[in-house]
Amino acid sequence: MHDASLPLSYLSRNFAPLRDETPPTKDLPVHGTLPGCLNGEFLRIGPNPKFVPLAGYHWVDGDGMIHGVRIKDGKAAYVSRYVRTSRLKQEEFFGAAKFMKIGDLKGVFGLLTTIMQQVRNNLKVLDNSYGDGTANTSLIYHHGKLLALHEADKPYVVKVLEDGDLKTLGMIDYDKRLTHSFTAHPKVDPVTGEMFTFGYSVIPPYLTYRVISKNGIMHDPVTITISEPIMMHDFAITKNYAIFMDLPMLLKPKEMVKENKMIISFDPTKKARFGVLPRYAKDDLMIRWFELPNCYISHTANAWEEDDEVVLITCRLENPNIDMVGGYVKEKLEICSSELYEIRFNMKTGSASQKKLSASPIEFPKINEFYTLKKHRYVYGTILDNSAVLKVIGVIKFDLHAEAEEGKKMLEVGGNIKGIYELGQGRYGSEAVYVPRGAAEEEDDGYLLFFVHDENSGKSCLKVIDAKTMSDETVAVVELPHRVPYGFHAFFLTEEQLLKQTIT
Ligand SMILES: [Fe+2]
Repeated sequence: MHDASLPLSYLSRNFAPLRDETPPTKDLPVHGTLPGCLNGEFLRIGPNPKFVPLAGYHWVDGDGMIHGVRIKDGKAAYVSRYVRTSRLKQEEFFGAAKFMKIGDLKGVFGLLTTIMQQVRNNLKVLDNSYGDGTANTSLIYHHGKLLALHEADKPYVVKVLEDGDLKTLGMIDYDKRLTHSFTAHPKVDPVTGEMFTFGYSVIPPYLTYRVISKNGIMHDPVTITISEPIMMHDFAITKNYAIFMDLPMLLKPKEMVKENKMIISFDPTKKARFGVLPRYAKDDLMIRWFELPNCYISHTANAWEEDDEVVLITCRLENPNIDMVGGYVKEKLEICSSELYEIRFNMKTGSASQKKLSASPIEFPKINEFYTLKKHRYVYGTILDNSAVLKVIGVIKFDLHAEAEEGKKMLEVGGNIKGIYELGQGRYGSEAVYVPRGAAEEEDDGYLLFFVHDENSGKSCLKVIDAKTMSDETVAVVELPHRVPYGFHAFFLTEEQLLKQTIT
């Protein structure tokens, strides 16, 4: 590891990658009680660059590292492991960064890097036939497999061992049927067990939709026609539809070279387009497109059907800061935070409408996953610091059955904001995941789990709070043996899922 020599502000003390992996460290100090329903493993993935980047370091770059807390019968163990991608293994062989990173893709240097990458590929110096992604963005469980995901690549299967350790089994391509990238945010229908996914590309076809059966069989590709290449980070499904978001976060490789810009740029003059397609369609002839005011959406919370309407609950960002999405990391960023919206698509009339649910910022929206594709009431999310990427300052709970209250200050509890758990000065968290309390009947009868790093003390912990009350009194705090760097998405693997993992 060479983190000490990395000259970038992103890699300052609290952002620096970890030097080493940590094998399972057992019997961690637990304050409070870890309820029995938390048997399983809390996992959070994020970028942890092992080698000095070729040029710039972008905040989405970095080899995927998973941090896990294995919980069993009230005890906890911590582990951190790289996802052993093809890219990481090859760079370990060379002992240096060799593959392109997003931060390299700017201006003439971006072009030269692209050419060098191609030459290396042609000369077989590097093998990218199995992808060159970092598997650093998110995790999902489907067909007995935990998948580590990165939207520029195919998934990697990671097995969670009984002691909590994490072992990369390798890339999955669904019997060679997957030949394109795979979003970091596929959706699993909890009723049918199917997984729905898509991939986007800078060359045609720009967007490809796939359905994967409960038994892990990938159906034929469905090309979704859009006019130009875009970055599409997320989508949504309902019982009968898939919702694609053609938002003007454009991929422009020519501008990268001509105008010394990043490959990604946002066009504020274009409308936001949403395509609603019957989810088992064999082509996109049946897709219905809806236009709404310009915006960018990183993450959706959920979607369902109601009479003639398809309803989407989502974070929505006006005027996205391209530095956050497509630029180099700076010391200080004024980050525009997403707000929670309800968007409705009327399948009968062809009209669309949207309603802001609250002016309070929210990102990384999560729900009680039992309600996936169903009308639900609560959304949990994180509040980001407005001066730095990936720094979570609090966890917020919205009630969709309540109306926003007029005159409320930002981050003031009341109206449809049912609670805010503030982390406190100098403490920053992670995406919070919801875990139901046993056979709980109420939608919010459960717990929220998230990592917290205290920059004052240099210590990190896992916190468990009551999702119903959002009380400041924690249910449990697990002390971790070292700092957990800030990262991307979190996931809770239940004990049942852990035991049912398959390797076929
Ligand atoms: Fe994401």
